[in-house]
Amino acid sequence: MTTTTPATAGYVHGYSRFEARRLGDQADTLADLLHAGIRYPAGDRVLEIGCGVGAQTAHLVAGSPGAEFTAVDISEDSLREARARVRKEHPGARVSWHRADLHALPFADGAFDHVFVCFVLEHLRDPRRALTDLRRVLRPGGTITVVEGDHASAFFHPDSAAARAVIGHLVTLQAASGGDALIGRRLHPLLTGAGYAEVVVRPRTVYVDGSRPALVEGFTRHTFTAMVEAVRDRALAAGLTSPDDWEAGIEALRATAGPEGTFHYTFFKGQGVVPD
Ligand SMILES: C[S@@+](CC[C@H](N)C(=O)[O-])C[C@H]1O[C@@H](n2cnc3c(N)ncnc32)[C@H](O)[C@@H]1O
Repeated sequence: MTTTTPATAGYVHGYSRFEARRLGDQADTLADLLHAGIRYPAGDRVLEIGCGVGAQTAHLVAGSPGAEFTAVDISEDSLREARARVRKEHPGARVSWHRADLHALPFADGAFDHVFVCFVLEHLRDPRRALTDLRRVLRPGGTITVVEGDHASAFFHPDSAAARAVIGHLVTLQAASGGDALIGRRLHPLLTGAGYAEVVVRPRTVYVDGSRPALVEGFTRHTFTAMVEAVRDRALAAGLTSPDDWEAGIEALRATAGPEGTFHYTFFKGQGVVPD
């Protein structure tokens, strides 16, 4: 079942079973890379925005077992799945779940010590406004952590114009729904523009080759290629490609997970502090 609301009607990845599994594979495969260094002190109040099916929430609570988490998403179905996932994987975790739009959060000013946002800003029409709205619920001195990708950072072997074209179609579709699949490179100006201080953004690069079979499966196949594959029908409906060209591009992407394939992608992790 799919929950669609006006705020997410154009959401490029949708809410299918396939996408729920992809989010889980993505979070598990990238946990060491993206969650390294995130340890929230016991008792601190942490707000996760756009928790989806709880794929990142599970890693957050594992890394900071003493913190008090609040997880928000606009999709009721995703929240239900997230609650079940975290209850099963981390029965003792303290998480309170809320369905809300991040632009209209039902929390008091300064209610949280930390905010965590992963793969959400890329889908929003106005990510700077989102970051400003999130600043309201952080206390002075509170921190925000933002993780986003940038699809133009994908390069691979064997290189292929057909593969680059299907990635380009995903970027185009995301832009058409108001998002930005190249947002990683914008994190620093977005965070500073939204009023955060001490902003630091660092790249987190995934490099995959045949010597790293877990990443070939978890990242090249089940995170990146799966993400592109999932927009086939939308790309065809939008007239961006033909069935044959689409299949050729996906086949070429799959070849990057072959015995001689390699894949490179860069995520960006930004952190900022609310000025006193
Ligand atoms: C790509 S998913 C990422 C989920 C999760 N952060 C992860 O990394 O696995 C983006 C999530 O943001 C949520 N979302 C999009 N717009 C939102 C909004 N305005 N308020 C709250 N959640 C939103 C979507 O429902 C979706 O679950």
